[in-house]
Amino acid sequence: MNKTSVLFVCLGNICRSPTAEAVFRKKASEAGISVEIDSAGTHGYHIGNPPDKRSQAAGVAKGYDFSGIACRKVEAADFEKFDYILAMDKSNFENLKKVSEPLHHAKVSLFLDFANSKYDEVPDPYYGGKKGFELVLELIEEASDGLIKDIKKKH
Ligand code: 4NP
Repeated sequence: MNKTSVLFVCLGNICRSPTAEAVFRKKASEAGISVEIDSAGTHGYHIGNPPDKRSQAAGVAKGYDFSGIACRKVEAADFEKFDYILAMDKSNFENLKKVSEPLHHAKVSLFLDFANSKYDEVPDPYYGGKKGFELVLELIEEASDGLIKDIKKKH
């Protein structure tokens, strides 16, 4: 069977989805599952840039590694390639469905569908303070644990 693949998607691909990539890399490795992991943005404001320093600071403080992550935009081939395409918020979710064929829509979901949280979206932290980045990390950690359970069950 092919390796399971997961693409995390937010707007800019510099805050939330690279954080999800870094967190999920560590958690998947600790869970002993082999997964291909990547992230992308629905917009191309920051293509080629590393993750936001504030996201990196929050993540590194909890032991996550952001090395090698650079911003890219979602592309048509992603919808063929990835098994899970996970949007951080409803706007990303709607944008992903707009730019993909209906046959791929079943792969697209809200990442927090895998969390047991009062939140249903990972809030955009870009224009806020440190607390927003810490909340992003917490929600992503919780959803990652749920996603690992789902992958173990289905793949
Ligand atoms: P992200 O956050 O979608 O979590 O990467 C943002 C990054 C950049 C912008 C907005 C949100 N921006 O407007 O440049």
